[in-house]
Amino acid sequence: MLPTLLALLASYLLGSVPFGLVMARLIKGVDLREVGSGNIGATNAMRVLGKPLGLVAFLLDFGKGLVPTLFLSKYAADLNVHTPLLAESLCGVAAVVGHCFPIYLKFRGGKGVATGCGAIVGIEPMVFVASGLVWVALLGALRMVSLASIAMGLAFPIVAAWLVPGAPAFAGACALLTVLVLVRHRANIARIRAGTEPRIGAKPSI
Ligand code: G3P
Repeated sequence: MLPTLLALLASYLLGSVPFGLVMARLIKGVDLREVGSGNIGATNAMRVLGKPLGLVAFLLDFGKGLVPTLFLSKYAADLNVHTPLLAESLCGVAAVVGHCFPIYLKFRGGKGVATGCGAIVGIEPMVFVASGLVWVALLGALRMVSLASIAMGLAFPIVAAWLVPGAPAFAGACALLTVLVLVRHRANIARIRAGTEPRIGAKPSI
């Protein structure tokens, strides 16, 4: 049990590293929590740092989900007796919990989308591809990153159950990711309902 707990702890601690926040601080001397949406994630980093560096922030946040499912889960030995899926799923969720509630930032973190995508790619890339199509379609139609991300988060467990049937651990983990994404997008949901959520290419009103 100890290796499993250590694997989960390592996943959480890695997920807690606020790469976007650190990049904005080092490169522009800006605290991401005080500009744009106030989010520490890649979307807000892109607003401050531009597209190329925003993409780097996304990839780093993505990696925080990928590394635990691909590598750290191997240390959850007792959960790998029958299938690695349970260990991978738990490590992926731990990483996303870390991103959303980071110990280094008094548990006030990001929205879990990029890290969740990385975790899912480490387990079953096709679930990311199918959910990503939802994101692309919504973003293309409505030009709102948050709405596209929320829709993708809702798609995670549905697509997982469809493409990986008979894997309740994975589907359950994806459902947990949905809950985390929804909880962390509460402010965005309120702005969407109020009609004030910024669209890509529009002058931000927040
Ligand atoms: O993944 C985060 C995105 O859905 C919303 O980010 O900064 O617009 O709140 P932001």
